[in-house]
Amino acid sequence: SILIIDFGSQVTQLIARRVREIGVYCEIAPFQSASDAFQRLKPKGVIFSGGPASVPDGNSPRAPQEVFSAGLPLLGICYGQQTMAHQLGGTVEGGHAAEFGRADVEIVTPSALFAGVWEEGGRYPVWMSHGDRVTQLPAGFTVKATSENAPYAVASDEERRFYSTMFHPEVVHTPDGARLLRNFVVDICGCKPDWSMSAYRAEMIKKIRDQVGTGRVICGLSGGVDSAVAAVLIHEAIGDQLTCVFVDHGLMRMNEADEVVRLFRDHYNIPLVHVEAEELFLAELAKCGADPEAKRKTIGRLFIDVFDAEAAKLGGADFLAQGTLYPDVIESVSFSGGPSVTIKSHHNVGGLPERMKMKLVEPLRELFKDEVRVLGRELGLPEAFVGRHPFPGPGLAIRCPGEITKEKLDILRKADAIYLEEIRKAGLYDVIWQAFAVLLPVRTVGVMGDYRTYDHVCALRAVTSVDGMTADFYPYDMAFLGRTATRIINEVKGINRVVYDVTSKPPGTIEWE
Ligand code: XMP
Repeated sequence: SILIIDFGSQVTQLIARRVREIGVYCEIAPFQSASDAFQRLKPKGVIFSGGPASVPDGNSPRAPQEVFSAGLPLLGICYGQQTMAHQLGGTVEGGHAAEFGRADVEIVTPSALFAGVWEEGGRYPVWMSHGDRVTQLPAGFTVKATSENAPYAVASDEERRFYSTMFHPEVVHTPDGARLLRNFVVDICGCKPDWSMSAYRAEMIKKIRDQVGTGRVICGLSGGVDSAVAAVLIHEAIGDQLTCVFVDHGLMRMNEADEVVRLFRDHYNIPLVHVEAEELFLAELAKCGADPEAKRKTIGRLFIDVFDAEAAKLGGADFLAQGTLYPDVIESVSFSGGPSVTIKSHHNVGGLPERMKMKLVEPLRELFKDEVRVLGRELGLPEAFVGRHPFPGPGLAIRCPGEITKEKLDILRKADAIYLEEIRKAGLYDVIWQAFAVLLPVRTVGVMGDYRTYDHVCALRAVTSVDGMTADFYPYDMAFLGRTATRIINEVKGINRVVYDVTSKPPGTIEWE
Protein backbone atom coordinates (compact mmCIF):
# COMPACT_ATOMS: atom_id res chain seq x y z
CA SER A 1 0.00 0.00 0.00
CA ILE A 2 0.86 3.68 -0.25
CA LEU A 3 0.63 6.28 2.51
CA ILE A 4 -0.32 9.82 1.53
CA ILE A 5 0.65 12.47 4.06
CA ASP A 6 -1.81 15.35 3.90
CA PHE A 7 -0.44 18.86 4.31
CA GLY A 8 -3.83 20.41 3.63
CA SER A 9 -4.05 20.67 -0.14
CA GLN A 10 -7.51 21.02 -1.66
CA VAL A 11 -6.68 18.11 -3.97
CA THR A 12 -5.15 15.54 -1.61
CA GLN A 13 -8.13 13.24 -2.14
CA LEU A 14 -7.34 13.21 -5.84
CA ILE A 15 -3.94 11.64 -5.13
CA ALA A 16 -5.75 8.81 -3.35
CA ARG A 17 -8.21 8.48 -6.22
CA ARG A 18 -5.42 8.20 -8.79
CA VAL A 19 -3.52 5.62 -6.74
CA ARG A 20 -6.62 3.49 -6.28
CA GLU A 21 -7.47 3.76 -9.96
CA ILE A 22 -4.09 2.18 -10.60
CA GLY A 23 -5.29 -0.73 -8.44
CA VAL A 24 -3.18 -0.02 -5.36
CA TYR A 25 -4.59 0.49 -1.89
CA CYS A 26 -3.69 3.74 -0.17
CA GLU A 27 -4.67 5.83 2.79
CA ILE A 28 -4.49 9.53 3.57
CA ALA A 29 -3.15 10.61 6.97
CA PRO A 30 -2.96 14.22 8.18
CA PHE A 31 0.64 15.20 8.87
CA GLN A 32 -0.05 15.36 12.63
CA SER A 33 -0.83 11.63 12.81
CA ALA A 34 1.29 10.46 9.86
CA SER A 35 3.75 8.70 12.15
CA ASP A 36 1.06 6.38 13.59
CA ALA A 37 -0.37 5.69 10.15
CA PHE A 38 3.11 4.90 8.86
CA GLN A 39 3.69 2.33 11.63
CA ARG A 40 0.27 0.74 11.21
CA LEU A 41 0.08 0.62 7.42
CA LYS A 42 3.69 -0.35 6.69
CA PRO A 43 3.44 1.17 3.22
CA LYS A 44 5.78 0.47 0.30
CA GLY A 45 6.05 4.15 -0.47
CA VAL A 46 4.96 7.56 0.80
CA ILE A 47 3.54 10.56 -1.06
CA PHE A 48 3.63 14.07 0.47
CA SER A 49 0.68 16.19 -0.64
CA GLY A 50 0.66 19.87 -1.41
CA GLY A 51 -0.57 22.40 1.12
CA PRO A 52 -1.10 26.08 1.82
CA ALA A 53 1.69 26.55 4.39
CA SER A 54 5.07 28.11 3.70
CA VAL A 55 8.33 26.41 4.71
CA PRO A 56 10.22 29.69 5.29
CA ASP A 57 7.59 30.55 7.94
CA GLY A 58 9.41 28.32 10.39
CA ASN A 59 6.70 26.34 12.12
CA SER A 60 5.03 24.97 9.02
CA PRO A 61 4.08 21.26 9.01
CA ARG A 62 6.69 18.54 8.55
CA ALA A 63 6.75 14.89 7.60
CA PRO A 64 7.76 12.53 10.40
CA GLN A 65 11.53 12.10 10.24
CA GLU A 66 11.39 8.27 10.29
CA VAL A 67 9.84 8.33 6.82
CA PHE A 68 13.16 9.50 5.39
CA SER A 69 15.23 6.79 7.01
CA ALA A 70 12.97 3.82 6.17
CA GLY A 71 14.63 3.13 2.83
CA LEU A 72 11.30 3.58 1.04
CA PRO A 73 10.56 5.58 -2.10
CA LEU A 74 9.11 9.04 -1.45
CA LEU A 75 7.30 11.47 -3.70
CA GLY A 76 6.81 15.10 -2.65
CA ILE A 77 4.28 17.22 -4.51
CA CYS A 78 4.36 21.04 -4.39
CA TYR A 79 4.48 21.87 -0.64
CA GLY A 80 5.53 18.22 -0.22
CA GLN A 81 8.56 18.93 -2.41
CA GLN A 82 9.44 21.93 -0.32
CA THR A 83 9.24 20.27 3.07
CA MET A 84 11.11 17.25 1.70
CA ALA A 85 13.92 19.49 0.44
CA HIS A 86 14.00 21.42 3.70
CA GLN A 87 13.99 18.32 5.92
CA LEU A 88 16.83 16.80 3.89
CA GLY A 89 19.02 19.91 4.21
CA GLY A 90 18.08 21.98 1.14
CA THR A 91 16.82 25.56 1.08
CA VAL A 92 13.37 26.92 0.35
CA GLU A 93 12.66 30.58 -0.23
CA GLY A 94 9.45 32.52 -0.53
CA GLY A 95 8.36 35.38 -2.68
CA HIS A 96 9.38 34.26 -6.15
CA ALA A 97 7.16 34.75 -9.18
CA ALA A 98 4.31 32.35 -8.67
CA GLU A 99 3.14 29.97 -11.35
CA PHE A 100 -0.54 29.32 -11.07
CA GLY A 101 -2.25 27.12 -13.54
CA ARG A 102 -0.81 25.73 -16.71
CA ALA A 103 2.94 25.62 -17.30
CA ASP A 104 5.26 23.60 -19.51
CA VAL A 105 8.07 21.52 -18.10
CA GLU A 106 11.20 20.79 -20.08
CA ILE A 107 12.98 17.53 -19.46
CA VAL A 108 16.66 17.88 -18.60
CA THR A 109 17.73 14.31 -17.80
CA PRO A 110 15.82 11.02 -17.41
CA SER A 111 14.19 9.97 -14.15
CA ALA A 112 12.48 6.74 -13.16
CA LEU A 113 9.49 8.94 -12.31
CA PHE A 114 8.76 9.72 -15.95
CA ALA A 115 10.45 6.74 -17.64
CA GLY A 116 8.47 5.73 -20.71
CA VAL A 117 6.29 8.82 -20.46
CA TRP A 118 8.47 11.90 -20.94
CA GLU A 119 11.58 12.09 -23.12
CA GLU A 120 14.74 14.11 -22.68
CA GLY A 121 14.45 17.50 -24.34
CA GLY A 122 10.65 17.27 -24.61
CA ARG A 123 8.18 19.87 -23.31
CA TYR A 124 5.02 18.76 -21.53
CA PRO A 125 2.06 20.57 -19.98
CA VAL A 126 1.55 20.41 -16.20
CA TRP A 127 -0.50 22.20 -13.56
CA MET A 128 1.42 24.32 -11.07
CA SER A 129 0.10 26.13 -8.04
CA HIS A 130 2.60 27.59 -5.62
CA GLY A 131 4.40 30.66 -4.38
CA ASP A 132 7.56 29.45 -2.65
CA ARG A 133 10.24 27.36 -4.27
CA VAL A 134 13.29 25.30 -3.55
CA THR A 135 16.46 27.31 -4.19
CA GLN A 136 19.05 24.79 -3.14
CA LEU A 137 18.58 21.05 -3.49
CA PRO A 138 19.57 18.63 -0.72
CA ALA A 139 22.69 16.50 -1.17
CA GLY A 140 22.12 13.67 -3.63
CA PHE A 141 19.37 15.49 -5.53
CA THR A 142 19.64 16.69 -9.11
CA VAL A 143 17.24 18.57 -11.31
CA LYS A 144 15.39 16.45 -13.86
CA ALA A 145 12.96 18.96 -15.35
CA THR A 146 12.54 22.73 -15.28
CA SER A 147 9.93 25.27 -16.17
CA GLU A 148 10.10 29.00 -16.66
CA ASN A 149 9.43 29.87 -13.04
CA ALA A 150 10.42 26.59 -11.42
CA PRO A 151 14.05 25.59 -11.91
CA TYR A 152 13.27 22.40 -9.99
CA ALA A 153 10.00 21.33 -11.61
CA VAL A 154 11.20 17.78 -11.01
CA ALA A 155 14.14 17.03 -8.76
CA SER A 156 15.15 13.65 -7.44
CA ASP A 157 17.70 11.45 -5.77
CA GLU A 158 17.36 8.38 -7.98
CA GLU A 159 19.58 6.29 -5.73
CA ARG A 160 17.55 6.82 -2.55
CA ARG A 161 14.37 6.87 -4.71
CA PHE A 162 13.29 10.29 -3.42
CA TYR A 163 11.29 12.21 -6.05
CA SER A 164 9.74 15.62 -5.97
CA THR A 165 7.62 17.70 -8.29
CA MET A 166 6.67 21.31 -8.13
CA PHE A 167 3.53 20.57 -10.17
CA HIS A 168 0.47 18.50 -9.31
CA PRO A 169 0.45 15.14 -11.11
CA GLU A 170 -2.88 14.20 -9.47
CA VAL A 171 -5.04 16.77 -11.29
CA VAL A 172 -6.47 16.19 -14.75
CA HIS A 173 -4.80 19.38 -15.99
CA THR A 174 -1.53 17.49 -15.85
CA PRO A 175 -2.42 15.11 -18.70
CA ASP A 176 0.42 12.64 -18.02
CA GLY A 177 0.12 12.88 -14.25
CA ALA A 178 -1.65 9.55 -13.78
CA ARG A 179 1.12 7.80 -15.69
CA LEU A 180 3.81 9.41 -13.52
CA LEU A 181 1.95 8.27 -10.41
CA ARG A 182 1.73 4.78 -11.88
CA ASN A 183 5.50 4.78 -12.44
CA PHE A 184 5.99 5.77 -8.83
CA VAL A 185 3.51 3.40 -7.27
CA VAL A 186 4.04 0.29 -9.42
CA ASP A 187 7.56 0.47 -10.88
CA ILE A 188 9.38 2.40 -8.17
CA CYS A 189 7.54 1.27 -5.00
CA GLY A 190 6.83 -2.20 -6.36
CA CYS A 191 3.13 -2.27 -5.40
CA LYS A 192 1.13 -4.88 -7.31
CA PRO A 193 -1.87 -3.27 -9.02
CA ASP A 194 -4.25 -5.95 -7.81
CA TRP A 195 -6.50 -4.09 -5.40
CA SER A 196 -9.96 -4.81 -6.68
CA MET A 197 -13.50 -4.72 -5.41
CA SER A 198 -13.86 -8.48 -5.27
CA ALA A 199 -10.72 -8.67 -3.13
CA TYR A 200 -12.09 -5.87 -0.97
CA ARG A 201 -15.40 -7.68 -0.58
CA ALA A 202 -13.70 -10.86 0.62
CA GLU A 203 -11.40 -8.93 2.94
CA MET A 204 -14.28 -6.95 4.45
CA ILE A 205 -16.40 -10.05 5.00
CA LYS A 206 -13.60 -11.54 7.02
CA LYS A 207 -13.11 -8.31 8.96
CA ILE A 208 -16.81 -8.02 9.76
CA ARG A 209 -16.91 -11.63 11.03
CA ASP A 210 -13.85 -11.03 13.20
CA GLN A 211 -15.28 -7.83 14.61
CA VAL A 212 -18.83 -8.99 15.25
CA GLY A 213 -18.32 -12.60 16.33
CA THR A 214 -21.71 -13.87 17.46
CA GLY A 215 -22.99 -10.37 18.27
CA ARG A 216 -26.12 -8.81 16.86
CA VAL A 217 -26.01 -5.93 14.40
CA ILE A 218 -28.69 -3.40 13.60
CA CYS A 219 -28.56 -1.26 10.46
CA GLY A 220 -30.66 1.75 9.56
CA LEU A 221 -31.58 1.91 5.87
CA SER A 222 -32.19 5.31 4.34
CA GLY A 223 -33.17 4.15 0.88
CA GLY A 224 -29.82 5.42 -0.40
CA VAL A 225 -26.96 3.51 -1.92
CA ASP A 226 -24.49 3.66 0.98
CA SER A 227 -26.61 2.13 3.71
CA ALA A 228 -27.95 -0.50 1.28
CA VAL A 229 -24.49 -1.59 0.19
CA ALA A 230 -23.29 -1.70 3.79
CA ALA A 231 -26.30 -3.81 4.80
CA VAL A 232 -25.95 -6.30 1.95
CA LEU A 233 -22.24 -6.72 2.63
CA ILE A 234 -22.79 -7.25 6.34
CA HIS A 235 -25.58 -9.72 5.64
CA GLU A 236 -23.23 -11.67 3.41
CA ALA A 237 -20.76 -11.80 6.29
CA ILE A 238 -23.01 -12.67 9.23
CA GLY A 239 -26.42 -13.60 7.79
CA ASP A 240 -29.37 -13.18 10.13
CA GLN A 241 -27.32 -11.75 12.98
CA LEU A 242 -28.14 -8.54 11.05
CA THR A 243 -31.52 -6.80 11.26
CA CYS A 244 -32.28 -3.80 9.10
CA VAL A 245 -34.60 -1.04 10.21
CA PHE A 246 -36.15 1.21 7.62
CA VAL A 247 -37.73 4.31 9.15
CA ASP A 248 -40.24 5.38 6.52
CA HIS A 249 -40.85 9.07 7.24
CA GLY A 250 -43.28 9.56 4.36
CA LEU A 251 -40.86 11.98 2.73
CA MET A 252 -39.54 9.58 0.13
CA ARG A 253 -40.08 9.88 -3.59
CA MET A 254 -42.73 8.01 -5.57
CA ASN A 255 -42.65 4.23 -4.90
CA GLU A 256 -39.26 4.53 -3.22
CA ALA A 257 -40.24 3.02 0.11
CA ASP A 258 -41.80 -0.01 -1.62
CA GLU A 259 -38.69 -0.53 -3.71
CA VAL A 260 -36.48 -0.61 -0.62
CA VAL A 261 -38.75 -3.06 1.15
CA ARG A 262 -39.00 -5.34 -1.88
CA LEU A 263 -35.27 -5.25 -2.54
CA PHE A 264 -34.40 -6.31 0.98
CA ARG A 265 -37.20 -8.73 1.74
CA ASP A 266 -37.75 -10.37 -1.63
CA HIS A 267 -34.49 -10.00 -3.52
CA TYR A 268 -32.05 -10.55 -0.67
CA ASN A 269 -34.23 -12.09 2.00
CA ILE A 270 -32.63 -9.86 4.63
CA PRO A 271 -34.70 -9.39 7.82
CA LEU A 272 -36.21 -5.92 7.61
CA VAL A 273 -38.37 -3.94 9.97
CA HIS A 274 -40.40 -1.40 8.00
CA VAL A 275 -41.52 1.32 10.39
CA GLU A 276 -44.36 3.30 8.84
CA ALA A 277 -43.94 6.61 10.63
CA GLU A 278 -45.44 9.00 8.10
CA GLU A 279 -48.21 10.21 10.39
CA LEU A 280 -45.84 10.93 13.25
CA PHE A 281 -43.40 12.85 11.03
CA LEU A 282 -46.12 14.89 9.32
CA ALA A 283 -47.78 15.75 12.63
CA GLU A 284 -44.51 17.02 14.08
CA LEU A 285 -43.53 18.82 10.87
CA ALA A 286 -46.85 20.65 10.92
CA LYS A 287 -45.66 22.29 14.14
CA CYS A 288 -42.43 23.64 12.56
CA GLY A 289 -44.00 26.07 10.15
CA ALA A 290 -41.77 27.10 7.29
CA ASP A 291 -38.35 27.28 8.97
CA PRO A 292 -35.90 25.03 7.08
CA GLU A 293 -33.63 24.44 10.07
CA ALA A 294 -36.59 23.56 12.30
CA LYS A 295 -37.73 21.01 9.73
CA ARG A 296 -34.30 19.41 9.50
CA LYS A 297 -33.87 19.24 13.28
CA THR A 298 -37.34 17.81 13.79
CA ILE A 299 -36.75 15.10 11.21
CA GLY A 300 -33.35 14.27 12.69
CA ARG A 301 -34.73 14.05 16.22
CA LEU A 302 -37.73 11.92 15.24
CA PHE A 303 -35.58 9.61 13.17
CA ILE A 304 -33.36 8.89 16.14
CA ASP A 305 -36.34 8.47 18.49
CA VAL A 306 -38.09 6.03 16.18
CA PHE A 307 -34.93 4.08 15.41
CA ASP A 308 -34.03 3.85 19.07
CA ALA A 309 -37.50 2.59 19.99
CA GLU A 310 -37.37 -0.09 17.28
CA ALA A 311 -33.94 -1.23 18.42
CA ALA A 312 -35.29 -1.56 21.94
CA LYS A 313 -38.23 -3.64 20.66
CA LEU A 314 -35.77 -5.96 18.95
CA GLY A 315 -34.12 -6.52 22.31
CA GLY A 316 -31.15 -4.28 21.53
CA ALA A 317 -28.04 -5.04 19.51
CA ASP A 318 -24.31 -5.04 20.12
CA PHE A 319 -23.39 -3.14 16.98
CA LEU A 320 -24.78 -0.33 14.89
CA ALA A 321 -23.93 -0.55 11.18
CA GLN A 322 -23.48 2.63 9.16
CA GLY A 323 -22.64 3.42 5.56
CA THR A 324 -19.98 6.00 6.47
CA LEU A 325 -17.69 6.79 3.52
CA TYR A 326 -14.03 7.71 3.31
CA PRO A 327 -14.54 11.43 2.63
CA ASP A 328 -16.51 11.59 5.92
CA VAL A 329 -13.69 10.10 7.96
CA ILE A 330 -10.61 11.81 6.55
CA GLU A 331 -9.67 14.28 9.22
CA SER A 332 -9.39 17.55 7.44
CA VAL A 333 -6.20 19.48 7.94
CA SER A 334 -7.22 22.92 9.07
CA PHE A 335 -4.90 25.89 9.25
CA SER A 336 -7.35 28.64 10.01
CA GLY A 337 -8.44 26.96 13.21
CA GLY A 338 -11.71 28.87 13.27
CA PRO A 339 -15.07 27.13 13.21
CA SER A 340 -16.72 26.99 9.82
CA VAL A 341 -20.16 28.46 9.38
CA THR A 342 -23.17 26.20 9.35
CA ILE A 343 -24.92 26.70 6.04
CA LYS A 344 -27.30 23.81 6.61
CA SER A 345 -27.29 21.36 9.47
CA HIS A 346 -26.56 18.35 7.23
CA HIS A 347 -26.02 14.91 8.61
CA ASN A 348 -29.04 15.60 10.68
CA VAL A 349 -29.95 11.94 10.65
CA GLY A 350 -26.57 11.16 12.13
CA GLY A 351 -26.26 11.47 15.87
CA LEU A 352 -27.34 7.87 16.31
CA PRO A 353 -23.98 6.53 17.49
CA GLU A 354 -23.76 9.12 20.29
CA ARG A 355 -27.25 8.31 21.47
CA MET A 356 -27.15 4.54 21.22
CA LYS A 357 -23.74 3.79 22.66
CA MET A 358 -23.25 0.74 20.48
CA LYS A 359 -20.04 -0.25 18.80
CA LEU A 360 -19.95 0.73 15.14
CA VAL A 361 -19.59 -1.46 12.07
CA GLU A 362 -18.62 0.72 9.13
CA PRO A 363 -17.50 -1.46 6.24
CA LEU A 364 -17.38 1.40 3.71
CA ARG A 365 -15.10 3.67 5.72
CA GLU A 366 -12.28 3.20 3.26
CA LEU A 367 -14.26 3.78 0.07
CA PHE A 368 -15.14 6.72 -2.11
CA LYS A 369 -18.70 7.10 -3.39
CA ASP A 370 -18.00 5.70 -6.85
CA GLU A 371 -16.18 2.76 -5.28
CA VAL A 372 -19.30 2.04 -3.21
CA ARG A 373 -21.22 1.83 -6.46
CA VAL A 374 -18.72 -0.65 -7.85
CA LEU A 375 -19.03 -2.71 -4.66
CA GLY A 376 -22.83 -2.53 -4.92
CA ARG A 377 -22.70 -4.01 -8.43
CA GLU A 378 -20.26 -6.64 -7.19
CA LEU A 379 -22.84 -7.58 -4.55
CA GLY A 380 -25.58 -7.83 -7.16
CA LEU A 381 -27.58 -4.71 -6.33
CA PRO A 382 -29.72 -3.71 -9.32
CA GLU A 383 -28.15 -1.09 -11.57
CA ALA A 384 -31.11 1.28 -11.17
CA PHE A 385 -30.50 1.24 -7.42
CA VAL A 386 -26.72 1.51 -7.49
CA GLY A 387 -26.64 4.40 -9.98
CA ARG A 388 -29.15 6.54 -8.11
CA HIS A 389 -28.69 10.23 -7.61
CA PRO A 390 -27.97 11.27 -4.02
CA PHE A 391 -31.07 11.94 -1.93
CA PRO A 392 -30.99 14.03 1.25
CA GLY A 393 -31.86 12.53 4.63
CA PRO A 394 -34.77 14.96 5.25
CA GLY A 395 -36.18 13.92 1.89
CA LEU A 396 -38.93 15.88 0.19
CA ALA A 397 -39.44 18.05 3.27
CA ILE A 398 -36.59 20.30 2.09
CA ARG A 399 -37.97 20.36 -1.47
CA CYS A 400 -41.25 21.81 -0.31
CA PRO A 401 -40.40 25.31 0.96
CA GLY A 402 -43.01 26.53 3.40
CA GLU A 403 -45.27 24.41 5.54
CA ILE A 404 -45.36 20.70 4.89
CA THR A 405 -48.65 18.97 4.21
CA LYS A 406 -49.37 15.52 2.82
CA GLU A 407 -51.25 17.11 -0.04
CA LYS A 408 -48.23 19.15 -1.11
CA LEU A 409 -45.92 16.17 -0.78
CA ASP A 410 -48.21 14.11 -3.02
CA ILE A 411 -48.24 16.84 -5.68
CA LEU A 412 -44.45 17.09 -5.50
CA ARG A 413 -44.03 13.30 -5.76
CA LYS A 414 -46.03 13.19 -8.99
CA ALA A 415 -44.15 16.07 -10.60
CA ASP A 416 -40.80 14.66 -9.53
CA ALA A 417 -41.63 11.22 -10.95
CA ILE A 418 -42.56 12.69 -14.36
CA TYR A 419 -39.40 14.80 -14.39
CA LEU A 420 -37.16 11.84 -13.61
CA GLU A 421 -38.96 9.70 -16.16
CA GLU A 422 -38.30 12.31 -18.86
CA ILE A 423 -34.64 12.54 -17.82
CA ARG A 424 -34.24 8.78 -18.12
CA LYS A 425 -36.06 8.74 -21.45
CA ALA A 426 -33.68 11.39 -22.78
CA GLY A 427 -30.69 9.31 -21.63
CA LEU A 428 -29.55 12.06 -19.29
CA TYR A 429 -29.86 10.41 -15.87
CA ASP A 430 -26.22 9.37 -15.60
CA VAL A 431 -24.88 12.62 -17.02
CA ILE A 432 -26.63 14.61 -14.31
CA TRP A 433 -25.38 14.42 -10.75
CA GLN A 434 -28.66 15.21 -9.08
CA ALA A 435 -32.09 16.22 -10.41
CA PHE A 436 -35.37 16.86 -8.64
CA ALA A 437 -38.52 18.94 -8.57
CA VAL A 438 -39.31 21.55 -5.91
CA LEU A 439 -42.86 22.61 -5.08
CA LEU A 440 -42.99 26.33 -4.37
CA PRO A 441 -45.36 27.86 -1.83
CA VAL A 442 -46.37 30.37 -4.48
CA ARG A 443 -49.56 30.26 -6.52
CA THR A 444 -49.94 31.83 -9.92
CA VAL A 445 -52.79 32.32 -12.31
CA GLY A 446 -53.12 30.17 -15.39
CA VAL A 447 -55.71 29.11 -17.92
CA MET A 448 -56.62 25.56 -18.74
CA GLY A 449 -59.32 24.96 -21.33
CA ASP A 450 -61.92 27.60 -20.51
CA TYR A 451 -61.03 27.80 -16.85
CA ARG A 452 -58.89 30.09 -14.79
CA THR A 453 -56.49 28.17 -12.57
CA TYR A 454 -54.71 29.33 -9.44
CA ASP A 455 -52.11 26.71 -8.55
CA HIS A 456 -48.58 26.02 -7.35
CA VAL A 457 -45.35 26.70 -9.19
CA CYS A 458 -42.99 23.78 -9.65
CA ALA A 459 -39.25 24.46 -10.02
CA LEU A 460 -37.00 21.92 -11.72
CA ARG A 461 -33.41 21.52 -10.65
CA ALA A 462 -30.56 19.58 -12.26
CA VAL A 463 -26.87 19.94 -11.56
CA THR A 464 -23.58 18.42 -12.57
CA SER A 465 -21.01 18.02 -9.83
CA VAL A 466 -18.18 15.81 -8.66
CA ASP A 467 -18.73 15.85 -4.93
CA GLY A 468 -21.71 18.12 -4.24
CA MET A 469 -19.42 20.85 -2.90
CA THR A 470 -19.64 22.89 -6.08
CA ALA A 471 -22.12 22.41 -8.90
CA ASP A 472 -23.25 23.81 -12.22
CA PHE A 473 -26.83 23.84 -13.41
CA TYR A 474 -27.41 21.40 -16.26
CA PRO A 475 -27.88 23.09 -19.67
CA TYR A 476 -30.95 21.26 -21.00
CA ASP A 477 -32.15 22.06 -24.45
CA MET A 478 -35.38 24.02 -24.47
CA ALA A 479 -37.32 21.25 -26.19
CA PHE A 480 -36.66 18.96 -23.24
CA LEU A 481 -37.78 21.59 -20.74
CA GLY A 482 -40.87 22.43 -22.76
CA ARG A 483 -41.88 18.78 -23.07
CA THR A 484 -41.39 18.12 -19.38
CA ALA A 485 -43.21 21.26 -18.27
CA THR A 486 -46.20 20.41 -20.47
CA ARG A 487 -46.44 16.92 -19.06
CA ILE A 488 -46.20 18.10 -15.45
CA ILE A 489 -48.87 20.77 -15.91
CA ASN A 490 -51.20 18.43 -17.79
CA GLU A 491 -50.77 15.43 -15.53
CA VAL A 492 -50.35 16.89 -12.06
CA LYS A 493 -53.37 18.55 -10.55
CA GLY A 494 -52.20 21.43 -8.35
CA ILE A 495 -49.38 22.72 -10.57
CA ASN A 496 -49.98 25.22 -13.37
CA ARG A 497 -46.52 26.66 -13.96
CA VAL A 498 -43.00 25.21 -14.25
CA VAL A 499 -39.71 27.11 -14.01
CA TYR A 500 -36.10 25.95 -14.37
CA ASP A 501 -33.45 26.87 -11.81
CA VAL A 502 -30.24 28.13 -13.49
CA THR A 503 -28.28 28.83 -10.29
CA SER A 504 -24.87 27.26 -9.77
CA LYS A 505 -23.29 26.42 -6.43
CA PRO A 506 -21.89 28.68 -5.15
CA PRO A 507 -23.66 31.08 -4.80
CA GLY A 508 -26.75 28.84 -4.61
CA THR A 509 -26.92 25.49 -2.87
CA ILE A 510 -28.16 22.40 -4.65
CA GLU A 511 -31.28 21.98 -2.53
CA TRP A 512 -33.61 24.94 -2.07
CA GLU A 513 -33.56 24.71 1.73
P1 XMP B 1 -26.60 21.55 -0.75
O1 XMP B 1 -28.06 21.86 -0.80
O2 XMP B 1 -25.99 21.85 0.59
O3 XMP B 1 -26.51 19.98 -0.96
O4 XMP B 1 -25.85 22.19 -1.88
C1 XMP B 1 -25.33 19.26 -1.23
C2 XMP B 1 -25.69 17.79 -1.23
O5 XMP B 1 -26.12 17.39 0.06
C3 XMP B 1 -27.45 16.93 0.04
N1 XMP B 1 -28.13 17.45 1.23
C4 XMP B 1 -28.39 16.75 2.35
N2 XMP B 1 -28.13 15.47 2.66
N3 XMP B 1 -29.13 15.80 4.79
C5 XMP B 1 -28.53 15.00 3.86
O6 XMP B 1 -28.34 13.81 4.15
C6 XMP B 1 -29.41 17.10 4.55
O7 XMP B 1 -29.96 17.78 5.39
C7 XMP B 1 -29.01 17.59 3.26
N4 XMP B 1 -29.12 18.81 2.65
C8 XMP B 1 -28.57 18.70 1.42
C9 XMP B 1 -28.05 17.45 -1.23
O8 XMP B 1 -29.11 16.61 -1.70
C10 XMP B 1 -26.85 17.45 -2.16
O9 XMP B 1 -26.62 16.17 -2.68
